[in-house]
Amino acid sequence: METVIFSGMGNSQAVGEALMGLLADAGTEADMLWVFPVYAWGVPPVLVRYIEGLDLTGRVCHMVCTFGDEAGRTDRQWRRLIAGRGGTPGGVYGVRMPNTYVCLPFFDVDSPRVRQAKLDAAGERVEAIARAIASGSRATDLYYAGPLPGLKSRLIYPWFFRNQMKMGRFHHTVGCTGCGVCASACPSGNITRDVDGAPQWGSDCAFCLRCYHICPQHAVAYGRQTSGKGQYLHPKFRPSRFPGGDDDGQK
Ligand SMILES: Cc1cc2nc3c(=O)[nH]c(=O)nc-3n(C[C@H](O)[C@H](O)[C@H](O)COP(=O)(O)O)c2cc1C
Repeated sequence: METVIFSGMGNSQAVGEALMGLLADAGTEADMLWVFPVYAWGVPPVLVRYIEGLDLTGRVCHMVCTFGDEAGRTDRQWRRLIAGRGGTPGGVYGVRMPNTYVCLPFFDVDSPRVRQAKLDAAGERVEAIARAIASGSRATDLYYAGPLPGLKSRLIYPWFFRNQMKMGRFHHTVGCTGCGVCASACPSGNITRDVDGAPQWGSDCAFCLRCYHICPQHAVAYGRQTSGKGQYLHPKFRPSRFPGGDDDGQK
């Protein structure tokens, strides 16, 4: 089954690769599997733009999203997006994974205990999703949409990307050694380095936060919001590009 994975810190990558193993002989030529994180109760805009450039006529697009707490109505946005490109939405599933969003007050990575509990539960969840997809089911099972999911996905999602995420807020702090890890790991190739090696953010940011989480000095910040917050990478994380880029997420 053709699989497209979009992942910042490796949660969706790990889920996608596990599903690819379990679904190696499942489905038909028409089936596609899309795996990505939920952003602000919806589909990450970078992925929306990528899909809007595709012709999906004749394809059945299964969706597996990963999220830290609430998936909202990501399923509705997905169905509209796929149908708008001529495709047929397939099964729509969610897997709860460790949280990566740290750019607002009260949002932080999970405690080690919660993180481990989510990782422990994910294996069984992924197996259940693989069974559902292999059986041809087109169920909607996001696992947990959260309270007022329609409102959040319809109203907060567009507000969030218009007003909340501003690329100009990324900066490096005094701890930066100019090592360049953030620049080489950026899945959009959006980070360049100045003469001292320090990162400079361009305008093509996907807000995946990989630069923040991967910094070995914890010296990447988003305004003042990330001060005192934790970092997280999935245990199997390895840097990947986003769909559409070089060495992209398509398998
Ligand atoms: C910009 C951004 C927005 C996010 N919004 C949500 C959200 O609305 N609901 C949620 O439960 N998790 C949210 N998260 C957390 C991620 O969806 C979750 O940690 C996901 O598993 C990360 O997957 P990845 O490692 O493949 O990028 C957000 C993360 C980021 C970076």
